[in-house]
Amino acid sequence: GRASYVRIVDVGPRDGLQNEPGLVPVEAKVALIDALGAAGLPAIESGSFVSPKWVPQMADTAAVLARIQRREGVRYPVLTPNLKGLELAITAGVSEVAVFAAASEAFSLKNINCTIAQSLQRFAPVMDLARANGIAVRGYVSCVLGCPYQGAVPVAKVVEVSEALVAMGSYEVSLGDTIGVGTPDKAKAMARAVADQIGTDRTALHFHDTYGQALANVLAGLELGIATVDASVAGLGGCPYAKGASGNLATEDLVYMLDGLGVETGIDLDRLAAAGRAITAALGRAPTSRVAQALAAK
Ligand code: HMG
Ligand code: MG
Repeated sequence: GRASYVRIVDVGPRDGLQNEPGLVPVEAKVALIDALGAAGLPAIESGSFVSPKWVPQMADTAAVLARIQRREGVRYPVLTPNLKGLELAITAGVSEVAVFAAASEAFSLKNINCTIAQSLQRFAPVMDLARANGIAVRGYVSCVLGCPYQGAVPVAKVVEVSEALVAMGSYEVSLGDTIGVGTPDKAKAMARAVADQIGTDRTALHFHDTYGQALANVLAGLELGIATVDASVAGLGGCPYAKGASGNLATEDLVYMLDGLGVETGIDLDRLAAAGRAITAALGRAPTSRVAQALAAK
């Protein structure tokens, strides 16, 4: 059954802002991360140590990390695709990183310029160095419900990559519906197949809301007892290597639903919505979150 507490990972400062057409100032990123911490988020994905040629929006991650107010009990993971990324993350003083694989070969090549097998080989020394430095490693699997380049993705491949990430040392695997094409029965069957192998407690959901299905898909996953969900404040985001993909499930929409279900998150919805209004105002637009819009209209 459903967990009584759900841990929400706000990926907005990374997954959201990596897709902005313009560069977002360091101060705006720092203000967003600090506001999310103040709103009660237990984990805030704060940037990426990736090639600045591939994703220029994240090139200032070290500067951002140097200025945020680290709160007791809050985790600030960053993406690290290779050893170079992890070394930069260690220098920046992080205590958690994430490696990112895909269940689709075509997406793996476009996103990280290597095959799935090569990516797993590349992650092995990253995980070893992380472990040696006491750094926790989260794993992502992209395209778990469909790929923008190859279309259908077999559930067996999602399971295989998830198991490989756990075997290498990921404490958790976040299942990415990168282009938001999933629907609840398929999302649930996929998440169940993974959770059956790696454990419900190691399974997280990371659903983009391109087709408006993310909240329904998350609810389907929660029914399996999954208790970690990624979301992006104000619905920020997309993916630079998944054309047409829109933002993640909006954190405000997720918190509103969980509040209504009586599931604890530790998050103050009003403060969260204020954080979303501040960053979208800085970007010159309104939150796509329906809950944020409804609260603003009150
Ligand atoms: P490559 O070109 O094959 O790598 O890219 P390389 O090792 O040949 O290096 C090329 C250049 O990049 C070199 O610089 C390296 O030093 C530099 P040059 O000599 O040309 O000046 N470089 C780096 N610089 C900084 N930090 C690093 C780093 N690594 C190499 N870590 C690479 C391979 C993986 C680096 C590249 O493809 C890359 O950076 N990809 C990142 C793509 C990305 O960030 N995508 C978005 C995040 S994933 C996502 O959004 C999905 C997710 O949300 C889940 C979901 O929704 O499904 C997580
Ligand atoms: Mg994503």
